[in-house]
Amino acid sequence: MDKLLIQGGNKLHGEIKVSAAKNACLPIIFSTILSDKEITLNNIPELRDINTSVKLLKDMGAKVSFENKKLKINCSEIEKTEASYELVKTMRASILVLGPLLARFGRAKVSLPGGCAIGGRPVDLHLSGLELMGANIELENGYVNASTQGLHGADINLNFPSVGATENLIMAASLASGETIIRNAAKEPEITDLANFLNSMGGSVSGAGTECVRVQGQPELMETTYRPIGDRIEASTWVMAGLLTKSEIKVMDFDPEHIRSVTDTLKLMGANLEIGDNFVKVLESKLKAANISTAPYPGFPTDAQAQMMTLMCSVEGASSVDENIFENRFMHVPELTRMGAKINLEGKRAIIDGGVKFKGAPVMCTDLRASAALVMAALDSQEETEISRVYHLDRGYEAIEEKLKTLGANIVRVK
Ligand code: UD1
Repeated sequence: MDKLLIQGGNKLHGEIKVSAAKNACLPIIFSTILSDKEITLNNIPELRDINTSVKLLKDMGAKVSFENKKLKINCSEIEKTEASYELVKTMRASILVLGPLLARFGRAKVSLPGGCAIGGRPVDLHLSGLELMGANIELENGYVNASTQGLHGADINLNFPSVGATENLIMAASLASGETIIRNAAKEPEITDLANFLNSMGGSVSGAGTECVRVQGQPELMETTYRPIGDRIEASTWVMAGLLTKSEIKVMDFDPEHIRSVTDTLKLMGANLEIGDNFVKVLESKLKAANISTAPYPGFPTDAQAQMMTLMCSVEGASSVDENIFENRFMHVPELTRMGAKINLEGKRAIIDGGVKFKGAPVMCTDLRASAALVMAALDSQEETEISRVYHLDRGYEAIEEKLKTLGANIVRVK
């Protein structure tokens, strides 16, 4: 298993380009199941989760080529409408094949994702929404067995704006007969990107990015070429890494509007940021403590919570973080504590005693964003940190050591 060795303390400088958003790419890749035409996706990052989704499509019979970040997918000859436990357990987002398979083939068998490191993460909203659209769903031996004589439009009210449920239902509705209305839909930019992609295939999705999404089902969806949006969580990570290490860096190739809740919080903390059309530049800043609560978009993203907590550790004074989306998303806390952090957990609240100078230590990645928090702390420490279980990072941060080396970081991967 790979490890990262980071000798911290270097000031970072220059530009860093974020990759396309993993969380936009995954639903877009799975929605190619909806069409029997060839789809071309550009600027797709080389990530473990992207490879897993390619594997899943190939396993079903799709023709896929992935070269130079160009992903070509042809799902005209899908034979198998099943996603096995072996693949789903490595990536929960595999549940997103359910809606498209059911809509195009009238059947799907998908392993239940089960628990994961950051909490229980049920899929009840995905299933009840599909049932309202005419799906018969049975749970058998850890699998969702779904079938339909034909999906139809429905008026669906989500009792929580789940990102994945909104995506699964939009995809399914795109080939259903009639109109589907999804109320209390998730408003994340990745939902809007999925809608734009489906519309480029001839779909009819309106209201994406608001709490009411309307989908007019189509008889078929056509070929298209598409480039997904830049990764707002990767961008947030590098902006906070710049502030933590007191470096001047320019984070490029994404829409800063997508991280407004993060930049607004940072500005309240005293961050000096130059915000352009497609970049945020971090300038010399003196930060103070803050209190944040995670919330669905446009609130503060849970996926940037661990990174913010690392930054708060270094800022004088007491800060707090309320995690409202996932019940067990503080696994970075014991690892950061090994590096000198002083954090007290009280249920879903973390109280951070700031002013810490991070120490080097052997630490372990526990989930994707927790791992990014450890990389940030390691960059700030004046000592060497050894980060193991890097495969968590490789799920969502493309070429992390090359990108950080370009900024002047001292980082090596040990195979
Ligand atoms: C997506 C993102 C993930 C991010 C999360 C919240 C992808 C591939 N992953 O995950 O990085 O952290 O949004 O922004 O895009 N819930 C239910 N029932 C359901 C579905 C969800 O109770 O049927 C609950 C979950 O347990 C969780 C909350 O809703 O507490 C949010 O989950 P959801 O928005 O669905 O997250 P994901 O789509 O899994």
